Amino acid sequence: MESPFKADILKGKVGLITGGGSGIGFEISTQLGKHGASIAIMGRRKHVLQAAVSALQSLGIHAVGFEGDVRKQEDAKRVIESTFKHFGHIDILVNAAAGNFLVPAEDLSTNGFRTVMDIDSVGTFTMCREALKYLKKGGRGRNSPSGGSILNISATLHYTASWYQIHVSAAKAAVDSITRNLALEWGTDYDIRVNGIAPGPIADTPGLSKLAPDEITIKALEHLPSYKIGDKWDIAMSAIYLVSDAGKFVNGTTLVVDGGHWLRNPRR
Ligand code: HXC
Repeated sequence: MESPFKADILKGKVGLITGGGSGIGFEISTQLGKHGASIAIMGRRKHVLQAAVSALQSLGIHAVGFEGDVRKQEDAKRVIESTFKHFGHIDILVNAAAGNFLVPAEDLSTNGFRTVMDIDSVGTFTMCREALKYLKKGGRGRNSPSGGSILNISATLHYTASWYQIHVSAAKAAVDSITRNLALEWGTDYDIRVNGIAPGPIADTPGLSKLAPDEITIKALEHLPSYKIGDKWDIAMSAIYLVSDAGKFVNGTTLVVDGGHWLRNPRR
C-alpha cells in the first residue's frame, strides 16, 4: 500500500531497531528506511539479521546489522556505539525486541517469567539508557537542534487480562510505565520524545502465529464479526508518525493500533 507520508520525511535520520530483523520490527525498519532514514538493526540470530540487511539494502536503504541480545548490557552498549560509529549519529531508537510464549500461570517458572521481563522491560530500559547520550539535545553526534525519539512496542493485553500471558502482560505494563516516565524526565531535560505503539492482532507476525494460532483466529472470525486483523504496514505508518516531526508534540503516549480490537466484546 502506498505511504501517505512524503518519501523524505525521515531524510538524514538514523534509526536503531531492536528485533528489527523480523516481524513488526522488520516492517518498521523497512518503512523508516523507505522514508529516508539509515537503519541499524539489532538481533540475536545472525542469519535473520543478514537476510534482513540484504533485503533492506536491495530497496536502496543504508542498512547495517549488529548481533546482540538486549538482555546483556554489554551488547546494548556495543550495538549503540557501533551504530554511532557507523552513521555518526543516532536519532531514533525503536525497542521492538520481545519474547513470548503461551503458558498457564501455574506452569510458568520464575525463570520463565523473568526471561520475558528481561527481554521486554529490562531490555527496553537498558537500550534507552545506553542510547541517552546520543539522543539527548546537543548529544554526541547530534546535528539537529532537538533531541531524538524513542518508540517502544507494547501490547494491549495488560489493559484487561490475558489467558496464559501473565509474564507478557506484566512486561508490557512495565514498558508502558517506562515510556511515560522517560517521556517526563527526558522530554523535560533533553527534548527527547518517548512514545509507544500497542499493536492488536497483526497478520504474518510471530505474535499472531504463536499467541493466536489459526484455530483461535478462525474461531474469532466466526464468532466476532468485528474481529479484524491488521497489517504490519499499519504499525509502521504509526511509527513514522510518532518518530517524525508529524508527531513532534506527542510525548509519553502509547498509541493503540488495533482497529478497536481491545474494546470489543462478542455481540450477544
Ligand atoms: C513455558 C517456557 C517456554 C514455554 C521458555 N520457557 N519457553 N516456559 N512454556 N513455551 C521458560 C524456560 O523453561 C526457562 O525457564 C525460561 O523460560 C527461559 O527459557 P529459554 O528457552 O532458556 O530462554 P531463551 O532461549 O532465552 O528464549 C527466550 C524466549 C525466546 C522468550 C523463549 O526464545 C522467545 O520466545 N523468542 C520468541 C520471540 C518472539 O516470538 N517474538 C515475538 C513476540 S510477539 P526454566 O525455569 O525452565 O529455566 C509479542 C507480542 C506481544 O511480543 C503481545 C501480543 C498480544
